[in-house]
Formats: sequence, structure tokens, C-alpha cells
Amino acid sequence: MKNWKLAPIALGLAAFVSTSGHALGDDHAKEMTEEELQERIADTRAAIEQFASTLQGELVAAMEEGGPTQAIEVCNQRAPEIADEIAADTGWEVGRTSLKIRNPDNSPDEWERIQLEHFQSQHADGTPANELAPRHEVVEDEDGARFRFMAAIPTGGACLACHGSDISSDVKHALERLYPDDQATGFSEGDVRGAFSITQEM
Ligand code: HEC
Repeated sequence: MKNWKLAPIALGLAAFVSTSGHALGDDHAKEMTEEELQERIADTRAAIEQFASTLQGELVAAMEEGGPTQAIEVCNQRAPEIADEIAADTGWEVGRTSLKIRNPDNSPDEWERIQLEHFQSQHADGTPANELAPRHEVVEDEDGARFRFMAAIPTGGACLACHGSDISSDVKHALERLYPDDQATGFSEGDVRGAFSITQEM
């Protein structure tokens, strides 16, 4: 984990919204004042906070009730459901991703991978995982202009039962059954586990 290569920060290579504007009627929506940007960031952070606290609450309750083997169910079933509920409420794409994924459905796309590598290299340079600044950008590609936002997720002690190096054989077997290509083990407390990711149409 300590040998992550410094990621090439390829942000300059992506195609971004230019403020010069095109002839499209809704082009205006892509241009944000500083105030609009701050408001959008605050709304996005609130949605992530809701995702994190709902999931954490259910995970802790399930761990206390039935231990990690039972709590796998919460992560397997409820994590995607909670993301879908917030997506339905907000109209945004909501998810979690990582450079080392458990569920292939959570694979990062190219933009997400760049941000994850950035988090990882900042962390390797000494920024604690819980102090990594979220990253946001207005990105324009074949899907149109979108506001994208990612916030790093630190690995806490409670995560190690399912993401650490010393996983009980019951948990290991349950994980192998659900996730034959699981890469999300071997983490230590304080590592960057992954990130929340939100995408908003503009
Ligand atoms: C009880 C076992 C368990 C515990 C404890 C647990 N996780 Fe997970 N985690 C999972 C499972 C199962 C998945 C796959 C969820 C899915 O199918 O989307 C997962 C997926 C994730 C993902 C999505 C990316 C991926 O790898 O697919 C992140 C990020 C994550 N966990 C972070 C954490 C953090 C941070 C903690 C501690 C606060 C934690 N997990 C605690 C079982 C666990």
C-alpha cells in the first residue's frame, strides 16, 4: 500500500466546459458563479453525509447484532440501496468506488480513477486520509456537461473485519462466495479505502 506510484495528474487532458459557450440554449447552466458553486458543493456534501451516516448506522447495528458475517449483508444489499435512494431523491448518480474494489459494479471510470490516484498520492505524501480535500470538476464529454464530485473515505478500525489483512475464515468464505474477484482486503487503519462519488447533470 505504501508504494503507490505518483499518479500522472492528467486533468489538463480532459475536455472541460469552456466559458466561451456554444450555440446551445442551455449552455448558460454550465457557467456557475462562485456562489452557485459553493451552494452546489454544500448540497453534494450533504448527500454524501446522508449516505455515509445511514450506511454506517446500519453497519454498526448489524455488526453488534450478528458480527461481521451477518453485516456483510448490509454492505451487499443496503449500500447499493441507500445509494439508489439518495439518487432517486436528488436525481444525481451516487456511488462508492476504489482503486481496489470488492464489487466490480463499483469500478471507477476514468475521471474517478484520476481522482482516486490523486487522493492516494496526496496520502502517500503525508496527508491523513480523513483530511484529503474533496475534488470537484465540471466535465464535458459525450454525455454532456456534468458536475462531478468525490470525497475520500478513510479506513477505520471497524472496517478491518472485512477489509483488513486478518479476516476470520467465516467472513472470508462469505466474501469469496459473493465476490470471487474481491480486491478490497489488506487495508490498514488510516489507509484511503476509496471515495464517495456524485455526478450531476447540468
Ligand atoms: C461486514 C463487512 C464489512 C465491513 C465491516 C465494511 N465493509 Fe466495506 N464493503 C463490504 C462489502 C460486502 C462491500 C461490497 C458492497 C457492494 O456489493 O456494493 C463493501 C464495499 C465497500 C466500498 C465500495 C467499493 C468496493 O470495494 O466495492 C467501500 C468504499 C467500502 N466498502 C468502505 C468501507 C469502510 C470505509 C468501512 C469501515 C467504516 C467498511 N467498508 C466496512 C463489507 C464490509
